[in-house]
Parts: sequence; C-alpha cells; structure tokens
Amino acid sequence: MFHTIAYNGTREENYELVIQQLRALIEGESSFIANLANASALLNQFLEQINWVGFYLTENDELVLGPFQGLPACVRIPFGKGVCGTAAENRKTIIVPDVHLFPGHIACDAASQSEIVVPMVKDGNVIGVLDIDSPVKNRFDETDQKYLEKFVDVIVATL
Ligand code: SME
Repeated sequence: MFHTIAYNGTREENYELVIQQLRALIEGESSFIANLANASALLNQFLEQINWVGFYLTENDELVLGPFQGLPACVRIPFGKGVCGTAAENRKTIIVPDVHLFPGHIACDAASQSEIVVPMVKDGNVIGVLDIDSPVKNRFDETDQKYLEKFVDVIVATL
C-alpha cells in the first residue's frame, strides 16, 4: 500500500525520500514494466510543474514508449533524434531549458516548454531513457539531474 507523504524538507531531502520510496516500491518485484509504471507514478506525484513523465525503452536502434504519466505520446523515437534519442545516443543526461531552442525537439504535448532526459545504462548499453517535460521554461537544473540519475540507477540495479 502506498501512502502519500508530505515532501517538506529541502529539495535534496525530498529527493532522498522519493528515492527511498522507490526502493520500497520495487524491492522484491521482478517485473521491470511494473516497476517502471510505479516509478513514473511516484515521480508524477512528487515533482511539481511537470506535464509528462515516463520511460522509453530501447528496441533495436530506436526508443519505444514505455510506462508513463501524461498525455498520449509519440511511440517510436530513433536513436539520435529528438532530446530522448540524442541523450540515448550520447549516454548523457540532457537538460533543455527551452524546447523551442533545441534543434529536432519532438513535440508530443504542445504544453511542454522544458525537458530533462536521463539515460538508463546497463553494462554499457542504453536500455532506455527517463523523460520528464515541464510546462514552464528552465524547470530542471543540476540538482534534478543528480537525483534523477540516482533514481534511475536504483531502477537499473534491479536488472
Ligand atoms: N520531447 C521528446 C519526445 C518525447 S515527449 O516529450 C514525451 C524528444 O524530443 O525526444
């Protein structure tokens, strides 16, 4: 049973708390899809000012839509395309302060103004990405990057 918790610490403390919640949610569960579904729901109730949060999973040389919260989204993104495909190809987190200024940005929800994409890397292979969109510009910074990368590490460690 999941109990909602007041995230009333510092940003860092709140992120540590949500990572603990993630661990508790996925501990002992071997279904990767179920864990991603709960992870997206967890982030959706934790993060403010976001309109889409979810996962794309690698299939051959493209990313295919996985569990998410938000409006229906584009299903397939080739490696190297859009923010997601670029982060996957480079195996590096990308923060986009203004999506309108990112060449090749793929607009799934017209409300999106800024975005962060964190690759999920297992044994040197990109198995997918975590993608989060915000309806405000400049929503994501290095603190988000640091903790979202930790968040993703917890998920990848289950594999
Ligand atoms: N904006 C992303 C596409 C995915 S949607 O935002 C959910 C991109 O450019 O890769």
